[in-house]
Amino acid sequence: MEICPTKSDTRAAVARLKADGAVLGLVPTMGYLHDGHLMLVRAAKASCDRVAASIFVNPTQFDEASDLDAYPVDLDRDIALLEAEGVDLLFLPQAGEMYHPEAQTVVETTALANVLIGALRPGHFRGVATVVTKLFNIVRPDRAFFGRKDYQQLQVIRTMVRDLDMPIEIIGVPTVRERDGLAMSSRNVRLTPAHRAAAPALNAALDWAERALPQLPQSAEELAAAITSRISGAAGAEIQSVDIRDAETLAALSGRIARPAVILLAVRFGDVLLIDQRVVTP
Ligand code: PAJ
Repeated sequence: MEICPTKSDTRAAVARLKADGAVLGLVPTMGYLHDGHLMLVRAAKASCDRVAASIFVNPTQFDEASDLDAYPVDLDRDIALLEAEGVDLLFLPQAGEMYHPEAQTVVETTALANVLIGALRPGHFRGVATVVTKLFNIVRPDRAFFGRKDYQQLQVIRTMVRDLDMPIEIIGVPTVRERDGLAMSSRNVRLTPAHRAAAPALNAALDWAERALPQLPQSAEELAAAITSRISGAAGAEIQSVDIRDAETLAALSGRIARPAVILLAVRFGDVLLIDQRVVTP
């Protein structure tokens, strides 16, 4: 695996990797890798000739400095894991390499960026869309792989690629979970033992909703209320939002659920914000 700390190294390495017309996949990450990230790498390996990954803890998508400072880092382990998966290239820039000191250009999906998680974390999706655009311009992949766990992020990126005519195919990969159902996340290590024990309540509520929906046709409002009451029983859970949205557009749904919908959860345990999602079809 070639490790490239600069944009110019990366461009040169990509030119070599694509010289024979190979299809290049990109897996963007912020590091501290777990099986969820590695699933994206495996999906990329399965459908592309060459695979690039990036590790960059992007400061512009953190709305709270404390969250950025607390972001876990273990580069040696990450590099070993990517190497073992057979990744060809790792783009590993410092913040100074990534952003021009007088950078003033941003990418924003104006409607999608400011609802749901975007309303809880102002500026977050503008930071994500901007850095992903930069990663796409530096690596120029044919396909890029994102987790469905971060459902709104995936929709932001799909919308951005559509609107700005980026010649990149976006692939959404299913959520990888711990044995007890908690969606894998780099943030999970910051949960206290009591919160870690309570956190599988998100997935349990989603499982319940998926089973309940076909049996007792409920309105979006009733379903959201039932999910809220299930999660509020978990010790330490501070529910930020339970939303039932159109699975494609994320437009709010009300009344009977008649088309594919996504249930989006954002729940705080202490200072750790956990998110989870489930697409349900009536
Ligand atoms: P990060 O949180 O490191 O996640 C990198 C990718 O891994 C994202 O596409 C995310 O959806 C996916 N992922 C995380 N946990 C997963 C799980 N349990 N199962 C499946 N996929 C999972 O998301 C980011 O970084 C950043 O916002 C980024 C896109 C890199 C831009 O900075």
